[in-house]
Amino acid sequence: MTDTAASSTAEAFRVVRNPHAATPEERAKKLEHLNFGVTFTDHMARVTWTADGGWGDRRIEPYGPIPMDPASSVLHYAQEVFEGLKAYRWADGSVRLFRPEANAARLQRSAWRMALPELPAEDFMASIQALVELEQDWVPDAPETSLYLRPFLIGTDVFLGLRPPKKVDYLLIASPSGPYFSGGVKPVSIWVERDYHRAGPGGTGAAKCGGNYAASLRPQVEAYERGYDQVLYLDAASGQLLEELGGMNVFAVRADGTVLTPIINGNILEGVTRSSVMQLIEDQNLKVVERDITLAELREGVESGEITEVFACGTAAIVTPVGRMGSADFEVTVGGGEPGPVTLAIRQRLTDIQYGRAEDTYGWMHRVV
Ligand code: COI
Repeated sequence: MTDTAASSTAEAFRVVRNPHAATPEERAKKLEHLNFGVTFTDHMARVTWTADGGWGDRRIEPYGPIPMDPASSVLHYAQEVFEGLKAYRWADGSVRLFRPEANAARLQRSAWRMALPELPAEDFMASIQALVELEQDWVPDAPETSLYLRPFLIGTDVFLGLRPPKKVDYLLIASPSGPYFSGGVKPVSIWVERDYHRAGPGGTGAAKCGGNYAASLRPQVEAYERGYDQVLYLDAASGQLLEELGGMNVFAVRADGTVLTPIINGNILEGVTRSSVMQLIEDQNLKVVERDITLAELREGVESGEITEVFACGTAAIVTPVGRMGSADFEVTVGGGEPGPVTLAIRQRLTDIQYGRAEDTYGWMHRVV
């Protein structure tokens, strides 16, 4: 079946059942102790695009390896973009997504930047509806757990020349997961990177493409070796301005109640959690300012006490306090190394909305089941 129609519903996805799906007992065992991103459900969703036929062959199929020709373009030129979002189990048994339409839109923007076809938002939403409905028993209910959803696009045409692919697959896999950082709300340490940059002007920094994350791994390895958990990048043009961490946006809280975050400048990922956190901060009667922030301002502010808290945020990491920052020429402890009150309040407010413990006055939550 091929069809290019933009309107797609969950019923448009034909279902090929996994004959080896986990039994209820096997599933319960797998859901007992969840880490991030290591356990997967029985099925995945898939839609295939061809240059001639557009988007078609919408299906749910058994989760498993995807046989691929070794000349497939994603394997050579990293023609890949992805998303991350979560399905939450509420106390009433229902299953909800957090702002999925924002992920659908960002996947399109990322695809555009990499000259990949844009998946219609209707297909994105329908694939999630179809998969999560089928896999609803995999949505965990223990505190801090969720069904992490990973939609992605890959170039699958068989050609070693460099050009936009003529065949692309969209896949959606689901992983019942625990926290990204184990050990509760424990502050992380960040290495401020001077030698490597994550993105440059006109580059792919704003796209959620695998290549950005691959390039962050060398600096990450070196940061680990120096005793730091994460890397904070500076802009490539001046080497002075904060951008983001390898997989999270960054915020700094000032003693006067102003909260700063780097302005979206084409290099920074437009985080869904970032924009939600900004809204929540404003609704706590604090002021959010998006602007250029220099490393000197951050460092001196932390040293003088003018900056009382630093935190990172993202879908996987939620809101994570930063307790220590360092680079070749400095080392500072943030807020005595303890999570600060603004960080904790925002994290609580966000997760209360996500897990249905507080009323969703923003219309952010989307019911699936
Ligand atoms: C997410 O937060 O969903 C991401 O995609 C970041 C990744 C490093 C887990």
